[in-house]
Amino acid sequence: MIQGSAQVFQSPSGNALDEQQVLERLRQTEGQLLQSEKLAAVGLLAAGIAHEINNPVGFVSSNLGSLQNYIERLFAILDAYARMQEALPAEHPSRVEVENLARETELEYLRQDIPDLLRESIEGLARVKGIINDLKDFSRIDDGQREQADLHRCLESTLNVIRNEIKYKAEVVRVFGELPLVSCVPAQINQVFMNLLVNAAQAIDSVGTITLRTGAEGNLVWIEICDTGKGIPPEFQARVFEPFFTTKPVGKGTGLGLSISRDIVQRHGGSLVMRSAVGEGTTFRLSLPVGEASERSD
Ligand SMILES: Nc1ncnc2c1ncn2[C@@H]1O[C@H](COP(=O)(O)OP(=O)(O)OP(=O)(O)O)[C@@H](O)[C@H]1O
Ligand SMILES: [Mg+2]
Repeated sequence: MIQGSAQVFQSPSGNALDEQQVLERLRQTEGQLLQSEKLAAVGLLAAGIAHEINNPVGFVSSNLGSLQNYIERLFAILDAYARMQEALPAEHPSRVEVENLARETELEYLRQDIPDLLRESIEGLARVKGIINDLKDFSRIDDGQREQADLHRCLESTLNVIRNEIKYKAEVVRVFGELPLVSCVPAQINQVFMNLLVNAAQAIDSVGTITLRTGAEGNLVWIEICDTGKGIPPEFQARVFEPFFTTKPVGKGTGLGLSISRDIVQRHGGSLVMRSAVGEGTTFRLSLPVGEASERSD
């Protein structure tokens, strides 16, 4: 707590701030720190879990591959036995015994179902692998290092990570243009995408559409996230980027998503703007400079 004092604090622009403003600034900074620390911790945890899961998933996947191959070989032997058994007279005790056993164990059904079960398991595992890769991509430790990132991939991995927030609410439509690689901190840009996509899904009451548009113009790339949600009333439109401005119930929103997102985008030399109409929906447009390295490589 800051106790009352005659001290004069200064804003970055050099203007004197009163105590109330200083407290407000501190509250905002504390909130932003908390949010970014929480995200960093979640990112680390997710990266750790993804790493640990990778190993068993790897050997289960390889075992299933071998099993599929062994089963095919066993079936080939069963076929040979079946041909041998047909060569015996119908009432031969061995033939009768084998036929009874085949009926009791539902051999025909097993022969159809085992390959299906194996195929489904292999497909399921491929999905688990995809999720792990998305998690690893999404939660790449934010070391503040810029990389040449494919923003379509960033969008896809973020979408996969928050799939549960969106899947019952909105159909996601992609109208993707051609994007060059962009010099950015991918973990931070993913955080912006996540905030915008979750907001879009939360703005939709029952079901709607989230349209993602992308394109490049000169040295800029742009990404639009457009929802058919309830829209933002004109009196709130100027305030949505303010820290702690939220219309969501306590526990659901802290009101920090957009202020942090705009901060991140501005640190990248880009801009984040919004247009909205009540009852029609909202579009957030993110523009980012492509960055030096890509310019050189073009
Ligand atoms: N796509 C959108 N459609 C309608 N309203 C929106 C949309 N995005 C943001 N808003 C409005 O702007 C407010 C601020 O958004 P912001 O993301 O900063 O905070 P929040 O979503 O309320 O909470 P948090 O993101 O911290 O969980 C929201 O509470 C909501 O009223
Ligand atoms: Mg939000």
